[in-house]
Amino acid sequence: MREGAFGNATALACRECGQQVALGPFYACPECFGPLEIAYDFPRITREEIEAGPRNIWRYKALLPVPTDIEQSPNMEPGFTRLLRADNLGRELGIATLWVKDDSTNPTNSFKDRVVACALSAARELGAKVFACPSTGNLANAVAAAGARAGIRTVVFIPSNLEQPKQVNSAVYTDSLVAVDGNYDDVNKLASEIAGEEDGWAFVNVNVRPYYAEGSKTLGYEIAEQLGWRLPDQIVIPVASGSQLTKVHKAFQELVRLGLVEDKPYKVFGAQAEGCSPVSVAYKAGVDAIRPVKPDTIAKSLAIGNPADGIYVLDICRQTGGAVEDVTDDQVRDAIVLLARTEGVFTETAGGTTVAVLRKLVETGQLDPELETVVINTGHGLKTLDAISDRVGPVATIAPSYAAFTDAGIV
Ligand SMILES: Cc1ncc(COP(=O)(O)O)c(C=O)c1O
Ligand SMILES: [Zn+2]
Repeated sequence: MREGAFGNATALACRECGQQVALGPFYACPECFGPLEIAYDFPRITREEIEAGPRNIWRYKALLPVPTDIEQSPNMEPGFTRLLRADNLGRELGIATLWVKDDSTNPTNSFKDRVVACALSAARELGAKVFACPSTGNLANAVAAAGARAGIRTVVFIPSNLEQPKQVNSAVYTDSLVAVDGNYDDVNKLASEIAGEEDGWAFVNVNVRPYYAEGSKTLGYEIAEQLGWRLPDQIVIPVASGSQLTKVHKAFQELVRLGLVEDKPYKVFGAQAEGCSPVSVAYKAGVDAIRPVKPDTIAKSLAIGNPADGIYVLDICRQTGGAVEDVTDDQVRDAIVLLARTEGVFTETAGGTTVAVLRKLVETGQLDPELETVVINTGHGLKTLDAISDRVGPVATIAPSYAAFTDAGIV
């Protein structure tokens, strides 16, 4: 490993017992098997220094486990996506100040480009030969594209029942898309087995997970910076493994600790689909343990039945005064159309889940409509067209004549 391979990161630290191990391709604590996270020695950094950086996640490179010359290595340059003021949707839902963080405009159209960029850097610095992942779809797209650009072999594993556009969006970048007969949790287990057997394979969300996960912090940094270096009062985030939610919270905490934003209370809310809601079920039952489920929902990108970071999501949502909520597939479909027709943003089923949960949180009085609220759209609707193809389409099919147009009653 070269000097400075992981920037200001100093070690891997166990989230459970605090045990530290040297930076390397490790993800589980040797003492208690708890998840390892990156520990840093952050330098003093100013808002101006960050603002002078590139318009992508590398403007925050001092806060990520990447080398200072990260921009020199071929990568997808994700991030710095739009934070849209969503007054129309806000009016519809009765929320005074609402923002949509639209991460569907990343290079492969989901927030996964952020985490993959950090994982790619780690894989490169650790000398990996193969860049791989088990995926619910979006991650496979991001890994396959980033690997192609970086010139490293990619192998991506998905459940075989995945939406066809997500399969094509991987296979176009790699000759090694592997469809596994099983659900995501089966695919994940297989990936862990391969990672244990094969040398030189970097599974982004398995053996380089600590580095990968840090990429989601950039969503939190960007939201704060784009609000004018402020934290929102409330934020609604989709939950599959739960990694993204925990890292957005971590990002807010770090910004406070670094003096880049003022400390203030904020509430974190998690969003799941009813057909895969192990975290929301535990939240509502008031218990700490998460019971794994077999997913059955159109929100396939969120279909992780045994979420690795679920217990931390519970902790964060409870501690901050937020909640975890779930919605039906029909509510997801409605919310996709609602977001599109109010804000011109076409989200996939994960975003439909998040917007539907936002609506339910307001209706049930769990979210305060008077407080400033951010909702994250993590992926693009073109990848899950089937979800709404029964709901939207031509209002009429007419002959090419003015009479036919007026007869159709459109004016
Ligand atoms: C579009 C989209 N949103 C949200 C998530 C959830 O992310 P996490 O596993 O970090 O909870 C995923 C992936 O799993 C996803 O593909
Ligand atoms: Zn430990």
